[in-house]
Amino acid sequence: MNNSELINKTITFVKEKLNDAEGGHDWFHIERVYKNALLIAKNTPCDITVVQLGALLHDIADSKFHNGDETIGPRTARLFLESENAPEDIITHVVNIIENISYKGGNFEKKFTSVELDIVQDADRLDAIGAIGIARAFHYGGFKDRTIYDPKIDPVTNMTKEEYKKNNAPTINHFYEKLLLLKDKMNTETGKQIAAERHRFMETFLSQFYAEWEGEK
Ligand code: ADP
Ligand code: NI
Repeated sequence: MNNSELINKTITFVKEKLNDAEGGHDWFHIERVYKNALLIAKNTPCDITVVQLGALLHDIADSKFHNGDETIGPRTARLFLESENAPEDIITHVVNIIENISYKGGNFEKKFTSVELDIVQDADRLDAIGAIGIARAFHYGGFKDRTIYDPKIDPVTNMTKEEYKKNNAPTINHFYEKLLLLKDKMNTETGKQIAAERHRFMETFLSQFYAEWEGEK
């Protein structure tokens, strides 16, 4: 099987698998990450097949929706790629990408490094910021029945993760907890450039949001 056949089969597999996924992690998220990854890969020497497969399979079975089971995503991807007779070195690399891509609060140390992982991770992070990132955050907040903002809860305080959860923190807090930190975590030059633009857009959004909240604009 040639590479484009394998990619097409993977697209069909992922679309089917994510058929009833929630809106922040559906096929459209994968498609955007795939496009971001191709854009970054254009400017970065890499194994494009690994980048494509990594982007397509990175959220194939999110542990959040499988009782915290961290092994199900990598396992599902491996079984699929084996069933398509993909070369073992490609399978191992893609599985390493899936195992190491997650943000995990920022304290997570990457156990595996490769330029292909850097690209897919940047592509995934880009989808968490900018206009799409804002939409996904409020979508997720609604899914969790969170308020959008509560001026009594200072979004810039250093609440611990546990405190956030206990307080069922408003969605605006997520910007300070994660989204505004992502631009400084980008790996690739192209990723950094796009992230800087999306970051500015989020800052504009937040200042407009607070001004509207106060009836100032
Ligand atoms: P990823 O797809 O990179 O693994 P997550 O699964 O952590 O990211 O989150 C998926 C989407 O939901 C992201 O856009 C993220 O910003 C958003 N999200 C995650 N946690 C929260 C939260 N506590 N409040 C609002 N949005 C959130
Ligand atoms: Ni993702």
